[in-house]
Amino acid sequence: MNNPRWILRRRPVGAVASDDLALVDAPTPAPGEGEFLARTLYLSLDPAQRIAMGDRAQYAAPVQIGEVMRGMTLGVVEASNHPGFVPGDLVRGAGGWQAFWIGRDGHKVARDGLPLTAHLGVLGPTGASAYFGLLDVGRPKAGETVVVSAAAGAVGSIAGQIAKLSGCRVVGIAGSDEKRRYATEDLGFDACVSHRVGALAAALRDACPDGVDVAFENVGGAVLDAVLECINLRARVVLCGLIATYNAEGLAPGPYNFASVLMRRARVQGFIIGDYQARMDEFTRRMTRWLMDGRIRYDDHVVPGLENAREALGLLFSGGNRGKLMVEVSRLA
Ligand SMILES: NC(=O)c1ccc[n+]([C@@H]2O[C@H](COP(=O)([O-])OP(=O)(O)OC[C@H]3O[C@@H](n4cnc5c(N)ncnc54)[C@H](OP(=O)(O)O)[C@@H]3O)[C@@H](O)[C@H]2O)c1
Repeated sequence: MNNPRWILRRRPVGAVASDDLALVDAPTPAPGEGEFLARTLYLSLDPAQRIAMGDRAQYAAPVQIGEVMRGMTLGVVEASNHPGFVPGDLVRGAGGWQAFWIGRDGHKVARDGLPLTAHLGVLGPTGASAYFGLLDVGRPKAGETVVVSAAAGAVGSIAGQIAKLSGCRVVGIAGSDEKRRYATEDLGFDACVSHRVGALAAALRDACPDGVDVAFENVGGAVLDAVLECINLRARVVLCGLIATYNAEGLAPGPYNFASVLMRRARVQGFIIGDYQARMDEFTRRMTRWLMDGRIRYDDHVVPGLENAREALGLLFSGGNRGKLMVEVSRLA
């Protein structure tokens, strides 16, 4: 194949089915004036890609039928007519689910000795979502209790560690014993409860004896309802994501405990990481320092082969991933 790529064949109904996407071939494009050609090394798989496959109201235009699936990529520049890029440069950009892509802009990635995958995950939009979502929207204070759902995932694992660095008690919510152990033993969360047991609110109350001051919400649905039962006066509920609802047709029901927001005078605020573009340098500097100092740990869940991208996306919805999910499309050397 010249430039294998995944295109959207039809809009999924419920979970993504095998023939909603098709792997097709295309000629390798040549860069025009002001453009560069990048070869994809890693493709980021994100829950929001499921949103982009549908036509519900969303923060960007949905992917159109027949278009290449949208996705953030880390690539190496192969040819360039762009003044800012030369062959061999590493670049992060919206390359999509394909082996080669043409860019007009992108974030040039420093060869700083960190693993390449870090630049797509912990130093990319997912790490930035944890950073700005927690610090800018959640505004935790030392001594407060922060609850993070999808605690062993790409965003949640980093948000919880930043909350620890902010001097908070941190309680995670995750779907398996292995993930709960990872959150407490490897990432330093104070506790981590399972959302697969019936009484999540009771488990949260036990793990948060002083209540919940900041809820970093990645899941929604029943998980969000349980968290809302435990929030304190003037709590901040950071709506980062609602993955439990992304496969739903039409409007997902709930949250049922919305009255809690009124009674506890809580603030519920959503955010989209693209709105923080102007502050990415601040994030990159701080996160790079934390990584170099060993104060933030991260895991990447790398699936080999672009041909496996469609199936791998399902791991986000089954809980089969730990840390940042991505596909290795080609090797640097
Ligand atoms: N606002 C923004 O700009 C922004 C940017 C990036 C990501 N996000 C959002 O952040 C969230 C996390 O994204 P991510 O890339 O870091 O994914 P992730 O947490 O690495 O993976 C998703 C995890 O969600 C959990 N999950 C899935 N379905 C669930 C359900 N029905 N009930 C309970 N838990 C469920 C699973 O973990 P368990 O095994 O623990 O259940 C799964 O591993 C998503 O909602 C995403 O849309 C938002």
